[in-house]
Amino acid sequence: MPGLRLPHKLYTVEDLTCAFPVVSNAKIALITGAGSGIGLETSLLFASEGCSSVLADINLEAAQKTAQRIHERYPDVKAIPIKCDVSKEAEVEACVNKAVEEFGRLDIVFNNAGIMHPKDDDALNTDEKVWDLTQEINVKGVWFGCKHAIKAMRANPTDESKGLHVGGSVINTASFVGKMGAATPQIAYTTSKGAVLAMTRELAMVHAKEGIRFNALCPGPLQTPLLMDFLDTPEKLNRRLTHLPMGRFGEAIEQARGVLFLASDESSYITGMDFLVDGGLSACYVTAEGTSPLPPPRGLASQ
Ligand SMILES: NC(=O)c1ccc[n+]([C@@H]2O[C@H](COP(=O)([O-])OP(=O)(O)OC[C@H]3O[C@@H](n4cnc5c(N)ncnc54)[C@H](O)[C@@H]3O)[C@@H](O)[C@H]2O)c1
Repeated sequence: MPGLRLPHKLYTVEDLTCAFPVVSNAKIALITGAGSGIGLETSLLFASEGCSSVLADINLEAAQKTAQRIHERYPDVKAIPIKCDVSKEAEVEACVNKAVEEFGRLDIVFNNAGIMHPKDDDALNTDEKVWDLTQEINVKGVWFGCKHAIKAMRANPTDESKGLHVGGSVINTASFVGKMGAATPQIAYTTSKGAVLAMTRELAMVHAKEGIRFNALCPGPLQTPLLMDFLDTPEKLNRRLTHLPMGRFGEAIEQARGVLFLASDESSYITGMDFLVDGGLSACYVTAEGTSPLPPPRGLASQ
């Protein structure tokens, strides 16, 4: 057909894999809840990209262990563990200040720390203290992280030769429960994750022209201590498994890969999004018969 020409080169799988994004190794990250689960895998994945970070957790020992792993595997990468309760503004501010003092900038903030209280229940049976604690950590903690991220990111020096610029990327961990209903009640947790989605969307709009992007990660149910401690009987596990299109829970490393994409400049036109990494759960009515031939990927922490 006249005018229709094939491209002069056919692209190969190697070309495509080379094009996959990496976070510039001069970029600096703050990760909360870095001692376990999604935060741990994300800390290791970022370090594997050469990205230095401040690792915040209420459990200092766990954050130190993550940092230790990074130092052993990636000796050129700096990882600074710090004790931080994200519900305390001064402690969150101290984490942001630590990154700026130590590295001169802050490009990525992953507000990931969160709790699912064992006594969280339905509207009638949830104690007010459980409600308050959940909102303090899961909602207020994310707000504080965003607030201090904005201040630091506005001041980021620009050096395009290293892929560094003003602004940054903030990723807030919400959950699929902020998008979908479940008759396994956790009223405080569900409410907190809906709030994270709404907060993230508004922040994305307000700060879009400052080069600061905000996205909400919405993990599906995962094989991490947070959920597995909660699903402590075969009945509880199976009640969920039957609804999962892939027939398995997600792995924290699968979330970390989504976070890496949202943190990198490869997602430069994505902001204000509910980024679902849920194995198809939110698209599902009835799951297929059988089991998947594919094993879940291995996390970095277990390698
Ligand atoms: N695991 C799941 O199935 C799942 C699903 C959807 C969303 N999420 C969300 O993902 C995030 C991480 O969950 P995870 O599964 O990795 O959990 P996890 O329990 O494995 O890790 C959470 C980490 O946060 C830390 N933490 C708790 N409270 C804190 C506080 N006040 N200040 C600072 N650090 C604190 C803990 O010490 C822990 O290291 C949470 O926001 C959670 O709600 C998890």
